[in-house]
Amino acid sequence: MSESVLSSVLATGQLQSRVQRRGRYVPESMRHPGKMLPSIAAHVISAFTEPGDLVLDPMCGIGTTLVEAVHLGRHAAGMEYEADFAGLTAANVQHARSQGATGFARVACGDARNIATVFGDLQGMAALVLTSPPYGVRTHGHVRCGSREGGGPVQKSNHRYSTDKRNLAHQRLPQLMEGFGQILARCGELLRPDGVVAITVRPIRVNGHLVDLPGQVIDTAEAAGLVLTHRLAALLCGVRDGRLINRASFFQMLEAWRNQEKGRPVCAVAHEDLLILRTGDGRG
Ligand SMILES: C[S@@+](CC[C@H](N)C(=O)[O-])C[C@H]1O[C@@H](n2cnc3c(N)ncnc32)[C@H](O)[C@@H]1O
Repeated sequence: MSESVLSSVLATGQLQSRVQRRGRYVPESMRHPGKMLPSIAAHVISAFTEPGDLVLDPMCGIGTTLVEAVHLGRHAAGMEYEADFAGLTAANVQHARSQGATGFARVACGDARNIATVFGDLQGMAALVLTSPPYGVRTHGHVRCGSREGGGPVQKSNHRYSTDKRNLAHQRLPQLMEGFGQILARCGELLRPDGVVAITVRPIRVNGHLVDLPGQVIDTAEAAGLVLTHRLAALLCGVRDGRLINRASFFQMLEAWRNQEKGRPVCAVAHEDLLILRTGDGRG
């Protein structure tokens, strides 16, 4: 394990998200509103696991963690609440295998609060849990002009996880954190004694007010028995010739502009916090 090679700022945004995915993921994956950058998953998996290890993602969306794991010769298991996204994970893993990925992966559709039961045969086997909670729905989505000439109202698409209110993405923040804590606790049962939990998350704004979501996730993870060992920055922006290259989406920029109009000094977020945790029961 080469944890020491992971620097405190990861240059994970050198290529745009869609360029990182082109040819590597099935095109339908674009309809998921909150995907992890593939390079973040690849960096974390390379740093904390060896070929043949098991990587787990309890909220796997369209399967970025699983795809990058199998390309790196790791095995993977993922769970996703939405059947549509779980199907896309399966398609993406199959696509990766057809491109020569050597790892194996399995995906289950359902509520990850049951993950330790669903993957009961994987107790104590995962070297890494890599995941991201659903948040920041206001800044998700794609945009299209309303008419061919470019005028008319803007149309928003791919900005919702689903219409199912039980999806944690649609819960209020305290309920989201409570559910996420339960998921982390169940993942702990699948973790190896020396296993690592890695979570990407960033601050959000609610009605203009900054919410320290990474801080809330740390509190939640610690209440679930984990101990924070590193807090790193995974860049979403590019870096070229010493300058940052903005890769914020239309809706992220719109949110920043709207806040600036109200006199708030808001910029679009250019990195994800990458939280690294270990089990706090002395096993690690
Ligand atoms: C931030 S997204 C993860 C995206 C993923 N990392 C990727 O790159 O595709 C969080 C996911 O959690 C899913 N989710 C919400 N509640 C869940 C639950 N109780 N159990 C499992 N998955 C859940 C959402 O549907 C969403 O796809």
